[in-house]
Amino acid sequence: MLEGLPLTARAANAGKMKIGIVGSGRVGGALGGVWVKAGHEVMFSSRHLEHDKTLAARLGANARGGTPREAAAFGEVLMISVPYGSLPAVGKDLAALIKGKVVIDTCNPFVSRDGDIAAWARQKGAGLASAELLPGARIVRAFNAIGAARMGAAHEDPGRIGMPIAGDDAQAIEVASRLIRDIGYEPVLIGGLAMGKYLMPGTPLSGEHTPEEIREIVATLN
Ligand SMILES: NC(=O)c1ccc[n+]([C@@H]2O[C@H](COP(=O)([O-])OP(=O)(O)OC[C@H]3O[C@@H](n4cnc5c(N)ncnc54)[C@H](OP(=O)(O)O)[C@@H]3O)[C@@H](O)[C@H]2O)c1
Repeated sequence: MLEGLPLTARAANAGKMKIGIVGSGRVGGALGGVWVKAGHEVMFSSRHLEHDKTLAARLGANARGGTPREAAAFGEVLMISVPYGSLPAVGKDLAALIKGKVVIDTCNPFVSRDGDIAAWARQKGAGLASAELLPGARIVRAFNAIGAARMGAAHEDPGRIGMPIAGDDAQAIEVASRLIRDIGYEPVLIGGLAMGKYLMPGTPLSGEHTPEEIREIVATLN
């Protein structure tokens, strides 16, 4: 029962984890920030190391900046949060490091931003497409269809907002669920990675919903 605890106490109770973040923009920055406040150790990375070091310095001793390779090696759990157009390059560069790791995938394909790869991913479904681009990773899709600006606020009212997630690996789902709860969301597994196609802006699941509302929406899908 960690719900009643302040954010800073939760990870200490649930087990501190090392989280490597690839893509330290709006989503990576916001979620990494609340994980640090919850007591986890976070390494931020992007293609601009100075940005990541500055971001980490603002967050204190549990945060650091590194290259994507360093973050992928550092994290027991990774979160990849880049524009979908960057995902093929990230998958190639980090191939050896992400194999077998739990990877939280926030990435959404938009044709207008990401080009042909997004058209392919939308056709295939974002969950299965990410699995193909990140071979061997134990992917859990999460945080895909809520605004980054609200991601740091769920802990203020823990458990009220549900977080729909999809994945095929039970252990990875368990680990991701714990991290999701640590920052105030209640994870709701909607199915395997094939269901990841519903975890995108513009689907009935997008926006903030209670866990119960998510279950009701999921029952209407397919
Ligand atoms: N914004 C939202 O509200 C929101 C909500 C849910 C999901 N999403 C999805 O989550 C993903 C991230 O969104 P965002 O809004 O955080 O984007 P963003 O603010 O543009 O941040 C993207 C990050 O990825 C880094 N990056 C890009 N290419 C990279 C590469 N090849 N290797 C390493 N790092 C790379 C960028 O840094 P450099 O360019 O310096 O490398 C930046 O730190 C997107 O797929 C988006 O659709 C967004």
